Amino acid sequence: MGTVLTLKLINRGKVRDLYRLGDPDEKLLLMVASDRVSAFDVVMKEEIRDKGKVLTAMTEFWFEYLGDRFPNHIVATNPTLQDLGEELPEEFQGRAMLVREAEMLPIECIVRGYLAGSALKEYQISQTVHGQKLPDGLSAGMKFPKPLFTPSTKAESGHDINISFGEAARIVGADTAARVRDMSIQIYEIGARRAEEVGVILADTKFEFGFIDGEAALCDEILTPDSSRIWEASELLAGGEPTAYDKQPLRDWLESVGWNKLPPPPSLSVAVQESLRNRYIAVYERISGREFLS
Ligand SMILES: Nc1ncnc2c1ncn2[C@@H]1O[C@H](COP(=O)(O)OP(=O)(O)OP(=O)(O)O)[C@@H](O)[C@H]1O
Ligand SMILES: [Mg+2]
Repeated sequence: MGTVLTLKLINRGKVRDLYRLGDPDEKLLLMVASDRVSAFDVVMKEEIRDKGKVLTAMTEFWFEYLGDRFPNHIVATNPTLQDLGEELPEEFQGRAMLVREAEMLPIECIVRGYLAGSALKEYQISQTVHGQKLPDGLSAGMKFPKPLFTPSTKAESGHDINISFGEAARIVGADTAARVRDMSIQIYEIGARRAEEVGVILADTKFEFGFIDGEAALCDEILTPDSSRIWEASELLAGGEPTAYDKQPLRDWLESVGWNKLPPPPSLSVAVQESLRNRYIAVYERISGREFLS
């Protein structure tokens, strides 16, 4: 038995806690996904039981599925005593990924296959999506002829802002912007094909990239219900509003109670919490073909 790892918290996001492992020059981080849930950039007071484990398992599945096709930050998705040199604290089991520390790009790499969310709102106002002009007459839930790369700023505080590819290129440089755009679209297409095989639609998703050893690498969580919109395919096809296996039911509920989207958020009932939990587990099990073990 090794001793239990001592960890230094270096960053607490809305959902994840980042700990440094060893000396800073080793550039190793432990990313631990909590059960926190945020909506409209506000963290809810209640947690969604097991959510951090589901997101970690889903990210693990996808990184395995992608293999070594894209540079990424993973050292070990399920770090063992051997990886860490010490015992992982019990409360981190199933939630931790050992990753290489990256210099994160200050943009979010969103890919959209379908018209929804903030892109739908923008389209309804100006017929554009992240500044790109689109044809008339598109409606909610419609599929784009080709997936769109629609970046946003990654705001330190407050809301991210949708930007054009040109603006992203000004922020991170033209070469890097083109590289992360191409990778984002390819990974989205791989994910969307897998989703389709099991009858769900990956409507859109967000990736984060960072520089590791001078190369843009895929970081953070990938293709999870926190970072994506995932719909029941048959229901969309039938023309209805599809079941959403993501945060949309929570957003809808928060809007239905008239919350002004400023802290403090309203309390989530057990029914709302359980409904989200069940959807996350269901879509994880369907896409990965694995059973969720809490
Ligand atoms: N390999 C990595 N090296 C450094 N930072 C990373 C790496 N992978 C992910 N991150 C960062 O870790 C944080 C993950 O935390 P979390 O997902 O809770 O954040 P968030 O609330 O989504 O976003 P933020 O707090 O950045 O607004 C993000 O800030 C993300 O950019
Ligand atoms: Mg995040």
